[in-house]
Amino acid sequence: MALLQVNDLKVSYKSSGFFRKQSEVRAVDGVSLHIDEHETLGLVGESGSGKSTLGRTILLLVEPSGGSIFFDGIDLLHTDGRTLRRFRRQVQIVFQDPYSSLNPRMKTGNIIADPMRVHRSADRRAIRERVLDLLDLVGLPASAYDKYPYAFSGGQRQRISIARALSISPRFIVADEPVSALDISIQAQLLNLLKEIQEKQGVSYLFISHDLRTVAFIAHRIAVMYLGRIVELASRKELIAGPLHPYTQLLLSSIPSKQRRVPQQYGEPSAYIRGCRFYPRCRSAMDRCRDQEPRMKEVSPGHEVACYLY
Ligand SMILES: Nc1ncnc2c1ncn2[C@@H]1O[C@H](COP(=O)(O)OP(=O)(O)OP(=O)(O)O)[C@@H](O)[C@H]1O
Ligand code: SF4
Ligand SMILES: [Mg+2]
Repeated sequence: MALLQVNDLKVSYKSSGFFRKQSEVRAVDGVSLHIDEHETLGLVGESGSGKSTLGRTILLLVEPSGGSIFFDGIDLLHTDGRTLRRFRRQVQIVFQDPYSSLNPRMKTGNIIADPMRVHRSADRRAIRERVLDLLDLVGLPASAYDKYPYAFSGGQRQRISIARALSISPRFIVADEPVSALDISIQAQLLNLLKEIQEKQGVSYLFISHDLRTVAFIAHRIAVMYLGRIVELASRKELIAGPLHPYTQLLLSSIPSKQRRVPQQYGEPSAYIRGCRFYPRCRSAMDRCRDQEPRMKEVSPGHEVACYLY
């Protein structure tokens, strides 16, 4: 059984501008996926594709408008408060911005201890010991305990965020662009840290990034998201070596180290056309692509794609 199973998940936002009439943004529009224990699922797609919304909805920080979320076999949308509290003790999130995500008025030790206090998971002495162990685990000195966030660089702050997320020994972490705000050299160090932590503690990650290179460094499997939908899902190896969806090919072609180039065609992307939502940008588009949306189809074991070419 998968640790997390999401079926046909939908999330809509009502947006109302001063001059515009109220409209609906279908940020997540029928997503199904699973994540196994000890696994990293990478979620990649350009800005506005719904990655953060999907990650937050899975953690019940955003209310879905449809679909189901199962964690450890429990239907999270139809369960009691006690079970939900137990769920919240098993999941955490790490955000992108290392500056706004840490309370500037709290010392590092207290920041890291905060989830343990919220969940009343240990007494004071044990919490202090645990925080010192976590500082060591994420590669920060014990002296960080009494310092405020301003004393640290962006990369060090993300280490603090990771330590905080790990404090209650979660089974699942949503890492939402956790390295995107950092220098390339620091990014690699943090990605390696996340991998090491997974090896030691067996946590599962939903790792979100707009950068396929970053995702490919850490994920076991990769889901490609476009305008609210998953359009391709495969093992890292298959997705990088043989991307099928024209959008995945486009994402890969913009990785400079790869000698693959697909000429990009611009058009008006739209989530509300009847057919394939990549149609306006697709260089392989056919007539039928305009009329009906392609469904995800398994084309080889574990490799699914939503495109009429397959
Ligand atoms: N709180 C909100 N209220 C209204 N619309 C929202 C809200 N949050 C997100 N959206 C809209 O939902 C869509 C998906 O946004 P989301 O932040 O999930 O995308 P993303 O893939 O994480 O993008 P990015 O790479 O920029 O972080 C976008 O059109 C966005 O404008
Ligand atoms: S279904 Fe058609 S328009 Fe959509 S990605 Fe495939 S070929 Fe392109
Ligand atoms: Mg986001």
